[in-house]
Amino acid sequence: MKDLKKFRLGFLASGGGSNFENIVNKCKSGYLKSEPTVLVCNNRDAKVFEKSDRLGIPSFHISAKTEGSHEKAMEKITKIMHEKGVDLIILAGYMKLVCKPLVEEYRDKILNIHPGLLPQFGGVGYYGEKVHKQVIDNKAAETGATVHLVDEIYDHGRILGYLKLPVRSGETSEELAQRVLELEHLLYPSVIRDIENGKIII
Ligand code: GRF
Repeated sequence: MKDLKKFRLGFLASGGGSNFENIVNKCKSGYLKSEPTVLVCNNRDAKVFEKSDRLGIPSFHISAKTEGSHEKAMEKITKIMHEKGVDLIILAGYMKLVCKPLVEEYRDKILNIHPGLLPQFGGVGYYGEKVHKQVIDNKAAETGATVHLVDEIYDHGRILGYLKLPVRSGETSEELAQRVLELEHLLYPSVIRDIENGKIII
């Protein structure tokens, strides 16, 4: 049997952090071999900080406001990721565009989860609730969640995995958001696990 790869995971988040919490718990339970190492969040009041405190994961508040510009924030985040020995970055509801130097120094080592199917329901302006509204407005028969590599363009990098669900008749965007989030909690750890065990090569 091939050796499992074990990564030091660094997380970027902006909000509630349910994906962050879910992945950390999957590491703690042994489903994932990787080690959650650090959380960076751009929003001081985000609920994800309560979760990182509870789970014992060191956290940093870094934003364009705290650093003076988005570029400087990216530099600081890159420095912290290196200092903590992070070798795989997990975007978990991070609402800012990841750019230089982070995206270059961690090329093909940054994952994102998108609450919709790509490429149809992704790109600039397709985030959060807006994705689910578009799915409903377009009368799409199905939606889902997608994990992809991150490059300089929103929702553009190589797709690593996705799960689909059928849209129910009369379903609201809030209901759809909840069902897609549950799908995300299945998909994201399973993609990381497939990277660990070599089924997905990045
Ligand atoms: C998820 O729907 C994710 O796909 C999107 O932002 C949401 C984050 O949720 N990018 P949470 O903060 O992990 O609960």
